[in-house]
Amino acid sequence: MLKMEDEIVNKTEKIKNHFEDEAKEFDEIILNLIPYYKQMVEALVLSIPFDKEENIEVIDLGCGTGTLASSIKQRFKNSQITCLDIADNMISVAKTKLEKFRDIRYIVSDFYKFNFYKDYDVIVSSLALHHLADDEDKKMFYRKIYDSLTNRGVFLLNHFQIIHNTLLSQYIFFF
Ligand SMILES: C[S@@+](CC[C@H](N)C(=O)[O-])C[C@H]1O[C@@H](n2cnc3c(N)ncnc32)[C@H](O)[C@@H]1O
Repeated sequence: MLKMEDEIVNKTEKIKNHFEDEAKEFDEIILNLIPYYKQMVEALVLSIPFDKEENIEVIDLGCGTGTLASSIKQRFKNSQITCLDIADNMISVAKTKLEKFRDIRYIVSDFYKFNFYKDYDVIVSSLALHHLADDEDKKMFYRKIYDSLTNRGVFLLNHFQIIHNTLLSQYIFFF
């Protein structure tokens, strides 16, 4: 398990609370915050190297309101998708958005506590893993991701790089 020092617990709690509060407005906010957000999601989905008809196991880490999962499900109709997020309210919005897809699984969990209990053909994450506190935590979590891929599995990441600018870093702390 990743280490959970007090500082990280506090930071993660703040992040969770932020997304609990923002969940209902998130879809509008993200379109204003991230230029070409829709295209970015679409690019990730088009990068999934499987036939559209294949039965693939997918997990979306930090799924938010389920936008990425929705795009994946529309392209890969036979995919089995698990959506994971720390914020109950983000998962609630995702459940509404993905209502017509009856076979989506949902997990409310923290990256720091989550143990993959099965292997996946596709592990995706969009604008979420930058919330891991530091490079060491990222390496450990990426190792867990690697170990949870099937032989044919791929990990696809839409990443967010915090620019080393104090003011900007503060502004985007919760993003
Ligand atoms: C900027 S949103 C991105 C949501 C979605 N992936 C998207 O691209 O629209 C970041 C998401 O990561 C989740 N998150 C942040 N820290 C997390 C953690 N430690 N464990 C699980 N989810 C986390 C948040 O609750 C939030 O839904």
